[in-house]
Amino acid sequence: MSELRFEDVTVRYGTGRRAVRAVDGISLTVPAGQVVGLVGESGSGKSTLARAAVGLAPVSAGRVLLDGEDVGRRRVGRPGRAVQMVFQDPYASLDPRMRVGDSVAEAVPRAAAADAAGRRAEVARLFRLVGLDTGHIHCRPAELSGGQRQRVALARALAGRPAVVVADEITSALDVSVQGTVLNLVRDLQRQMRLGMLFISHNLAVVRYVSDIIAVMYLGRIVECGPARDVLADPRHPYTRELLAAAPHRDGYTRDTPEPVDTTVTDVEPPDPHHLPAGCRFHPRCPVGPLVLPGRTDCLTLDPAADAPERVHRSACHFAGELPAPTGAPG
Ligand SMILES: Nc1ncnc2c1ncn2[C@@H]1O[C@H](COP(=O)(O)OP(=O)(O)O)[C@@H](O)[C@H]1O
Ligand code: SF4
Ligand SMILES: [Mg+2]
Repeated sequence: MSELRFEDVTVRYGTGRRAVRAVDGISLTVPAGQVVGLVGESGSGKSTLARAAVGLAPVSAGRVLLDGEDVGRRRVGRPGRAVQMVFQDPYASLDPRMRVGDSVAEAVPRAAAADAAGRRAEVARLFRLVGLDTGHIHCRPAELSGGQRQRVALARALAGRPAVVVADEITSALDVSVQGTVLNLVRDLQRQMRLGMLFISHNLAVVRYVSDIIAVMYLGRIVECGPARDVLADPRHPYTRELLAAAPHRDGYTRDTPEPVDTTVTDVEPPDPHHLPAGCRFHPRCPVGPLVLPGRTDCLTLDPAADAPERVHRSACHFAGELPAPTGAPG
């Protein structure tokens, strides 16, 4: 079991006026064998952080460490690497011309199967592990359903015997009817194999289903992070409350949801990442910020992200302790 740690990681795209800090000084730990759910709206930088974990995004400051060792120095981008990524679109990792069994076989490290027979047996094991009939081994990706393709992508990622899996919106492109079964599979495999996992979705209902820890991202920053139960029962950032209020309720989870906050100023467009608001980046949308409570001038000038990581259940809000108490009882 291994710990994945982002230490003050920044990823910048472009230069000059068009430069975007897609990930801006993020520190986040995925403890060994646990699932960290990363949630936030589109454009908040989730995929960029995921890609930084596997060496696919240019880290301009900070470090990504696996058990204290820089992942950049490990064998990233090749089969057998310790951190593996599964993408939203399985076509990104599956060659449409190859039989899916061969795509999985390609990712089996030599140490796991010395000869062709051993490799075939390992591929069959991986297919069964992800709930696929071994009869599908000879299919091309186009002959499978979206859910089956995503299972193949998962088998391919697991072939490398990773310590940590980064799963980026892996159910978002699937039919709603199969999303649940794929989520259950991922959760079962994670527990069974005691994998660390960074599980990313724009949908809080999905994230809360699988996560031990929840991190909420907004415009390149983590604005709240803590044990899933605490974040759901007692969210300390107005943006998290907004996400909770908007998340579809599911049986067993509705009791964790606080009453929606006053959303009078939250219907505005997300800010342009090229022109970040000063002070708290959420202030132009915050229902308890200076637009509603003009006395909260700190929000306009002081960055609340600075001391947030020092708290166990951290919140990048100057007024985290003064938010109205959530009325829903913990589930
Ligand atoms: N390769 C890239 N080149 C330039 N800008 C990018 C690139 N990838 C992402 N971005 C920008 O970085 C920001 C975060 O994007 P992304 O990480 O994809 O967010 P999310 O996954 O949360 O939707 C966005 O403003 C996006 O336009
Ligand atoms: S710091 Fe101010 S603007 Fe930012 S989330 Fe807290 S109350 Fe809202
Ligand atoms: Mg994304």
